[in-house]
Amino acid sequence: MKKTFFITTPIYYPSGKFHIGSAYTTCLCDSLTRYKQLKGYDTRFLTGTDEHGLKIQEAAQAAGKTPQDHVDYIATLAKDLWKFLKIENDDFIRTTEQRHETVVADIFEQLLKQDDIYLGSYVGNYCVQCEAYFTPTQLVNGNHCPDCGRETTLLKEETYFLRLSKYADRLLEFIDKNPDFITPETRKNEVVAFVKSGLIDLSVSRTAFDWGIKVKSNPKHVIYVWIDALSNYITALGYGSKDPSLYEKYWVKGDEVLHVVGKDILRFHAVYWPIMLMALNIPIKFKLLAHGWYMMKDGKMSKSKGNVVYPEMLVNRFGLDAFRYYIVREMAFGNDGVFTPEDFVQRINSDLVNDLGNLVSRTISMVNKYFDGTVSDTCHNHEYRKFEVELEDLSKEVVKNYHQAMDEFKISNALQEVSRLVARTNKLIDDTNPWNLAKDEALKPVLASTMYHLLESIRMITILYRPVLLDSCDKIFDALNVETELRSMDKGFGGEKIHYHVEKTISHLFPRLDSEKEVEYIKSQMNSVKEKIVEIPQKSEITIDQFDAVDIKVGLVVEAMKHPNAAKLLILKVNTGERIRQVVSGIAEFYQPDQLVGKKLLVIANLKPVKLRNELSEGMILCGDHEGKIYIIEANPLLEPGSTVK
Ligand code: MSP
Repeated sequence: MKKTFFITTPIYYPSGKFHIGSAYTTCLCDSLTRYKQLKGYDTRFLTGTDEHGLKIQEAAQAAGKTPQDHVDYIATLAKDLWKFLKIENDDFIRTTEQRHETVVADIFEQLLKQDDIYLGSYVGNYCVQCEAYFTPTQLVNGNHCPDCGRETTLLKEETYFLRLSKYADRLLEFIDKNPDFITPETRKNEVVAFVKSGLIDLSVSRTAFDWGIKVKSNPKHVIYVWIDALSNYITALGYGSKDPSLYEKYWVKGDEVLHVVGKDILRFHAVYWPIMLMALNIPIKFKLLAHGWYMMKDGKMSKSKGNVVYPEMLVNRFGLDAFRYYIVREMAFGNDGVFTPEDFVQRINSDLVNDLGNLVSRTISMVNKYFDGTVSDTCHNHEYRKFEVELEDLSKEVVKNYHQAMDEFKISNALQEVSRLVARTNKLIDDTNPWNLAKDEALKPVLASTMYHLLESIRMITILYRPVLLDSCDKIFDALNVETELRSMDKGFGGEKIHYHVEKTISHLFPRLDSEKEVEYIKSQMNSVKEKIVEIPQKSEITIDQFDAVDIKVGLVVEAMKHPNAAKLLILKVNTGERIRQVVSGIAEFYQPDQLVGKKLLVIANLKPVKLRNELSEGMILCGDHEGKIYIIEANPLLEPGSTVK
């Protein structure tokens, strides 16, 4: 039977668009999952959104939406982003889903019944941003929050408390007996010190707002957002539901459970969560990986500073693999990482373009030039054998270190190991000078041996990069014509006697980046985020009559095809109620025709018809633009084709 691995990201607050910090945690989890899959584990990967609490209620109000509409919208943004980054989560939990709410309400009642939760009252300084109370000694600068620095509000409320104090000793004992419960070690020490300093019972309900899960037996209280949120890790597996099979499989009987969390939310996971589980008599199966933060040179990323970097911009410009590689490679284990455009471009250029890309394309071209693309390992006794043995030895060492690092979740270290192998493989070319060997027919077998070693090493490197680099690894394997079986981790390093037949070339693996130009590009995009926040462009005022002159209709796309003579244009047949009209639209770069058929869009129906590259266009569809990408504006599905937009 396969070993199981259940991995989770924190569930994200739906407070806005997700920046590279959130993408970091999610990409890290995705790569760890892929690694475990490649090692033969049965994996389950959970992510989601944390949708209750005052902060969200207020954000919705500010956006003029109901909280539910607000969270629905942002959950879609999260799902779309994860799809875009090829994140392969098995489930996406939203805390407003019934499968979660019902069980959390039951958990609360159970803890209440067994007196682990009791009713009391609380006076304290509350930080809305962090959804937490602070004692006077914890406050900074008068009444400001020690975590986010914002001003706190003095609140008095009747509240339920969770008896943390009762479980403090058991928790310390658990941490002591499970030395790898929290990594890295330094973070573990912080948690132990915190628990030893004395746990006070935790306020676990709120009456000041109502956007949350109601306490069943006293509905004027909503359940504290962290009790609600932490439970997601088991409600998503069906704990407390009619079908707890996933919970049984991946949690109770599961082999490995890993919660990946940022350092800022470690305490909730390392103290409150295990105590909740102890009180519920649920085994503490998980380990915690607490990572650092992606920072900017001028501190935390923040919209008001205008220094936020979004993943879409980097992926659209540099490709998904480059982004995924950078994000997990750059952040050293346990520390913070600093994002700078210079480091980003440098990292891609050095590791992927110069080292890996060059190695692969040079090797393929030499194997074609000297052996017509076909090479096997036939010659073992020659004067360059010592270089090959060095390479073989190093590859064994790298593989060992790589697995050790991955098993300790140190992806950045694992990738550094692979880089060592790439460098050593490139060095084999310098050591043997294949172009000189090629001049002497008698040395052909030696040259073949060098080529074989280069190819084998590239195959190994590609296997090791697979959890992180997606399309690129497939591309390399395909260019080398490596059979599926030989792409897997367990088949990698046994000195397989492979008969290589490589393709003629490999195109566009990692195109070289012009450093100066690309750094400027990233900076300009970061600035444009800033400008958009500071000043949203406004057109001059119009009257209602001017608006009325524009006939905007709901149109149903019944057919869509590529324009035969223009790569950027699509031809759409759109039902706008009175008839089916043809609309030519410049969105071919962003949509495939079949993605549009069946969609209801907004069409300007009284725009003067024009011919675009010989095709009649009788209208224009409305789109929005976001970080250089065009998105269609879809109509509410309840609206019939031909409905007028007023
Ligand atoms: N909703 C809670 C988690 C509940 S889990 C039961 C929450 N959400 S969050 O959206 O604010 O943060 C989610 C995760 O993103 C946290 O682990 C946090 O550390 C991480 N990050 C937020 N900004 C980050 C960076 N700049 N860099 C790396 N991770 C960052 O907390």
